[in-house]
Amino acid sequence: MNAPLTERPPSNFDLDRIRAQFPILAEPVRGGRLAYLDNAATTQKPDAVLAAIDHYYRHQNSNVHRAVHDLAERATTAYEGARDRIARWFNTQREEIVFTRGTTEAINLVAYSFLRPRLQPGDEVLLTGMEHHSNIVPWQLVAKEKGAKIVAAPVLDDGSLDFDGWLARLNERTKFIAVVHISNSLGTVNPVEQMIAAARARGIPVLVDGAQSVAHLAVDFPALGADFFTCSAHKAYGPTGFGCLVAKREHLDAMPPWHGGGDMIRTVSFEESTWNEAPYRFEAGTPDMAGAVGFAAALDWIESVGLQAIAAHEHQLLVEGTALLAEVPGLRMIGTAKNKGGVMSFVMTAGHAQDIGTILDQYGVAVRTGHHCTMPLMTRFGVPATVRASLAVYNNRDDIEQLAMALRKASRLLA
Ligand code: ALA
Repeated sequence: MNAPLTERPPSNFDLDRIRAQFPILAEPVRGGRLAYLDNAATTQKPDAVLAAIDHYYRHQNSNVHRAVHDLAERATTAYEGARDRIARWFNTQREEIVFTRGTTEAINLVAYSFLRPRLQPGDEVLLTGMEHHSNIVPWQLVAKEKGAKIVAAPVLDDGSLDFDGWLARLNERTKFIAVVHISNSLGTVNPVEQMIAAARARGIPVLVDGAQSVAHLAVDFPALGADFFTCSAHKAYGPTGFGCLVAKREHLDAMPPWHGGGDMIRTVSFEESTWNEAPYRFEAGTPDMAGAVGFAAALDWIESVGLQAIAAHEHQLLVEGTALLAEVPGLRMIGTAKNKGGVMSFVMTAGHAQDIGTILDQYGVAVRTGHHCTMPLMTRFGVPATVRASLAVYNNRDDIEQLAMALRKASRLLA
């Protein structure tokens, strides 16, 4: 499934050429060089994505699925063409791709339309201790209403999942499983293939939150065997406000509508309405056409570089960055799992994460500080917050050296 990480990217991997395609990387910040290391929050956009969105608005924009004029046809072709592109990325059928505003909305859709009607008092939803709030709260809302319970499997000291602890929590009351593919806070890559196999053996549906994995790991949806996979375009060099739910067709066909409005209906009268087929049943109102086009362009761009090359480059930088940070006095890494994506999360004896982040910013280093929308995970590690540096394909050795240099300065300033 996931391409094995090689130690080094292929020899034709041209980092300077890649960086030159991201105009914002040349933007001075605080009067100096930008080291953008907040990629788990959102990635920057290459020229190809900016051009695709620009082209859409200049030459194709209208509404979709409604009118017969030329521009309406172009907009519909662009929008549905993007669905074909995205389906191909996941090696699945276009009918299994529901466009959403992103991962959060996709998870909420599954919680309300799939799980809520099935959930009974006493049922359990099994999560892990490293879930993002968006993969906790939607389940909590429906579980509360139905008298069901949220169960969270423990996380080990290195930030990996306690798989035996997770297995031990699977039982006849477990009605649904949701798990993050790559932890946004720690970078841990979860053993989703094994988890799905265990769940399938018990007939329990599984949702994989792919917000952090879509730009780093290949996902073949049918081979993965999950029931649902969610992702956001903006974490994968695409635009904000757009994402998708990839779902087994049998589930989508059986799921009732969630949001009501135009395009999701077949007929409407004041007495009764009937529903459009999936995936359109779940896409009420005028959709984000430019978002779809931008995401498709982002996937084309990723493919042109090669996901394997991207993963290898990020892995190499993670190894180098981790070694550089180990030399910074008083720095403690949180999350050292063996199977880890490009995230370096840490605390420092010198001061609070927020103060460190503020100083890093003065040196042009953009990181995220705080609980990273994973409060239960912060509690698990006994910290209120961490500093998180997260990598993307365009990061280079200069970025991580700039980070290490600024951390040393922060250490001295706060001492
Ligand atoms: N989920 C995003 C992050 O981890 C916003 O920063």
